[in-house]
Amino acid sequence: MLTQIHKLSRTRRVCKSMVIISLFLSIILILIFSINPCSQTTQILIPNFNLNYFKNTQTTPTNISHVVFGITGTVKTWHTKKHYIESWWRPNVTRGFLFLDETPIEHLPWPPTSPPVRVSGDHKGTPYTIRMARVIQGTFKAENKNVRWYVMTDDDTIFFLENLLNVLKKYDHEGYYYIGTNSESILSNTWFSFDMGFGGAGFALSYPLAEALAKNLDVCLNKYQYLHTSDHILRSCIADFGVSLTQEKGFHQIDLRGDISGLLSAHPQTPLVSLHHLDAVEPLFPATDRQQSLNHLMTSAKTDQSRLLQQSICYHHPKNWTFSLSWGYSVHIYEKTLPSCFLQLPLQTFEEWEKGGWPAFMVNTRGLSQDPCEIPHVFYFYSVEESGGGGWRREVVTTYVRRLPRRLLPCLVNGNHSADYVDKILVISPVKRLVTEGSRRECCDIIQVEKENSTTIKLRPCMKYEMTW
Ligand SMILES: *[C@@H]1O[C@H](CO)[C@@H](O)[C@H](O)[C@H]1NC(C)=O
Ligand SMILES: *[C@@H]1O[C@H](CO)[C@@H](O)[C@H](O)[C@H]1NC(C)=O
Ligand SMILES: *[C@@H]1O[C@H](CO)[C@@H](O)[C@H](O)[C@H]1NC(C)=O
Ligand SMILES: *[C@@H]1O[C@H](CO)[C@@H](O)[C@H](O)[C@H]1NC(C)=O
Ligand SMILES: *[C@@H]1O[C@H](CO)[C@@H](O)[C@H](O)[C@H]1NC(C)=O
Repeated sequence: MLTQIHKLSRTRRVCKSMVIISLFLSIILILIFSINPCSQTTQILIPNFNLNYFKNTQTTPTNISHVVFGITGTVKTWHTKKHYIESWWRPNVTRGFLFLDETPIEHLPWPPTSPPVRVSGDHKGTPYTIRMARVIQGTFKAENKNVRWYVMTDDDTIFFLENLLNVLKKYDHEGYYYIGTNSESILSNTWFSFDMGFGGAGFALSYPLAEALAKNLDVCLNKYQYLHTSDHILRSCIADFGVSLTQEKGFHQIDLRGDISGLLSAHPQTPLVSLHHLDAVEPLFPATDRQQSLNHLMTSAKTDQSRLLQQSICYHHPKNWTFSLSWGYSVHIYEKTLPSCFLQLPLQTFEEWEKGGWPAFMVNTRGLSQDPCEIPHVFYFYSVEESGGGGWRREVVTTYVRRLPRRLLPCLVNGNHSADYVDKILVISPVKRLVTEGSRRECCDIIQVEKENSTTIKLRPCMKYEMTW
């Protein structure tokens, strides 16, 4: 008993002295580090960081000549995809190549309005997945002088170049960036990855990351040969370089079917960068075919790409109406005052890519009820013009027309004010380009309600503390 107590007190003494010694050591260490905070390891890391920092402040702004596109397609389907590429490709301005599986003999001479062609795959019969993954390597080999970004994409993807540049400009092209988006479909993301930049939406790789991939592609193809798509192989390889996806909501894979007008009428507040799968969905505008629809959207894109699909919400209090605008695409009128958080939810006009998942979509949606208070009067973009309004100030006027009558009784919750008679809406917007980053949605005023059955809306910056509802 006694010896045990003795042992115990000895252990305590030893413990006590150990605590004192370690305290003393820590104080010394803290002192050393506060005098010289740059330990050996941090010194190794800092110069790299500083170098980038200084370089970056001196580089010129990123323009279209710094971006190289690697587009994947097949000879067989080229004639059905050609107009998608030609809707955005700018000959002698955009850099890059269309990689086909074979020489497009029946399409020669190759049209100068399309990207230059390369034949990908080492030999005939290379699996499509491998061929697509090799596109990054082929693109890098062919174009690597004065390049900041490589954009990998499919032959049925549409780009909005000015917006793409504005998104890329936010990032340091000397860092390791993998920028894009996952699918709208939860099932697709579950099968592949929520952290994958889907190839149809297109994704951007900064120069250093593209270089790293191009130089190590064989290793990656070997490691991940069991994966079924090239974007999945690349994502897995990119993960091995320690890089993860930077999500940008303006890229759109469109893993959806049917009528996507609900989605395009409630776009997030970010520039529209890409659209994909337009073959799989209904034409973007009613009573037109797919190609006409795309050309039509491109006319508003040409005038003011920065505002394209940007949502603005305003109210006409004398009638208790709500207007929701998607610039260059649609205007909705509700016969009820509804809050922004509700109008930001896309109307679920579209269907799942693959049935069976619940919830199905990566966004909250609103069902198509038969409630006349929640079903809007829909107007689609019709025309755009620039006009000289009030002396030196010029404005853009977009017009939206009703394609179909609503065929519902009026909403009676906020009075009895039918909007059935409105057949045209004019939207006046400033010529000044919109900056979405770090700013608010534009506010709007209803400046005229029923002159000749048309309504006029004017966009303006929101005022300090202004709440739309
Ligand atoms: C893009 O920027 C480079 C400088 O980095 C400049 O030399 C070039 O002329 C610019 N190109 C265009 C199309 O603005
Ligand atoms: C592109 O540039 C080449 C050579 O400068 C010229 O011959 C050709 O006409 C240009 N193509 C277009 C579509 O502008
Ligand atoms: C608008 O709605 C409010 C709340 O329902 C109602 O009190 C008001 O009378 C309505 N205004 C008109 C002009 O109908
Ligand atoms: C709503 O107004 C219309 C036209 O003014 C009228 O015919 C209708 O009876 C009204 N409905 C109700 C429920 O008051
Ligand atoms: C306005 O709409 C009403 C009802 O739809 C119609 O009777 C009238 O002719 C229209 N007026 C004009 C100027 O278009």
